[in-house]
Amino acid sequence: MDRIKITGGARLNGTIPISGAKNAALPLMIASLLTSDRLTLKNVPNLADVNLLARILRNHGVDSAVDGKRPGPAQHIGETFHFSARDIVDTVAPYEMVSRMRASFWVLGPLLARCGQARVSLPGGCAIGTRPVDLHLAGLKELGAEIDIDSGYVVAKAPGGLRGGRVVFPKVSVGATHNVLLASALARGETVIENAAREPEIGDVAQCLVKMGAQIEGIGTSTLRIQGADRLEGAVHTVLPDRIETGTFAIAVAATGGDVTLEGGRMDLLKTALDELVKTGVEVQETNSGIRVARNGKGIGPVSVGTQPFPGFPTDLQAQFMALMTRAEGTSVIRETIFENRFMHVQELARLGADIQLHGDTATVKGVGDLTGAQVMATDLRASVSLVIAGLMAEGETTINRVYHLDRGFEQLEQKLSRCGAQIERLSG
Ligand code: EPZ
Repeated sequence: MDRIKITGGARLNGTIPISGAKNAALPLMIASLLTSDRLTLKNVPNLADVNLLARILRNHGVDSAVDGKRPGPAQHIGETFHFSARDIVDTVAPYEMVSRMRASFWVLGPLLARCGQARVSLPGGCAIGTRPVDLHLAGLKELGAEIDIDSGYVVAKAPGGLRGGRVVFPKVSVGATHNVLLASALARGETVIENAAREPEIGDVAQCLVKMGAQIEGIGTSTLRIQGADRLEGAVHTVLPDRIETGTFAIAVAATGGDVTLEGGRMDLLKTALDELVKTGVEVQETNSGIRVARNGKGIGPVSVGTQPFPGFPTDLQAQFMALMTRAEGTSVIRETIFENRFMHVQELARLGADIQLHGDTATVKGVGDLTGAQVMATDLRASVSLVIAGLMAEGETTINRVYHLDRGFEQLEQKLSRCGAQIERLSG
């Protein structure tokens, strides 16, 4: 199994190109199930999760092809994928697939809308929490689905097709919003989704559905009004930049000091997180090509944050921010309100010398003068990258084991960081 070795202490200087957003690319790929025409997605990041989902979709009958590399100045423009679901040959998403990638559960709504039936494995819990799917099922029932649970599978039927309905989510869920939004694009009549998640990736999917022929009002707000189409068409859509990757690198620069331009990064996608970062003593500026982040000389100020659905501070940046706070000049409090068990990085950060006390959903982080390199274990995607950030700050050598978690969601992480001066390398096997 690959490991990553980091020798800490180097400042980051230079330019980091931001990839397309994993969490937009995945539901956009799933949207290909809704049409027999070709859906072309540009700026798709080359990630393990993307490749796994392409394989899962192939099982349902979706052909996919990737354009070859093109000559040109930009090396990191992502890949162009073509998806074509002319005939859906299988409406079953088996446990072996869904348990490997939770987002593949989102095929439920589109399969049901297109084929009138689907049998999709329940995803089960995962490292960051129990992660139920009750909101997905309640939403689809409002669109006329009949749903049973049988041997760990969701068995859904809508013999006459789905019809529009009014879905009021009692809690904000990104996945349930995607699932119902995707299904409603092919449902008869109007669907209103209230208390919809407002994450930019939802807006990106909605924009793509509009190109495919759905009418959607309220994109970017918590009320989405969708007029379903009888038939959706193909489209060409460019995946928006990854705000979590942007935030992660911004935090890395805050952690090491230096001056980096995050090329293609968009401030409007992560305003809250960048505002908090500025409070720690970092300069953040919008530039023509992206976002410039710099910290020169100053210490790291302690800043307390709590995770919230968009536009609040993202749970997907909580671990990285905590890594930064381990070296702050004072104490900060970090509250995780989205997932009940998203603190696995705490034990690993402690191995590097961090001083963190956990009480329920709250971590109290006392900044320490130095971290010291050690062997650590990656546990989930965002926790893993928080260890990379900590390793960049630590004295000496840090080795991160189980880096396949990182490959699920960060494209060319070592290359991007080492080009800016980080001493980071992958050890194979
Ligand atoms: C998405 O997960 C993201 N995944 C997560 O990113 C992200 O952390 C999360 O949204 C929150 O922003 C993708 O986009 C692929 P939720 P999702 O449904 O959709 C509860 C990463 O690292 N809930 O918004 O699964 C749930 O347990 C990943 O890239 C229910 O109670 O998250 C959680 O407490 C990790 N019932 C809260 O809602 C349901 O039916 C928010 O979860 C659904 C969710």
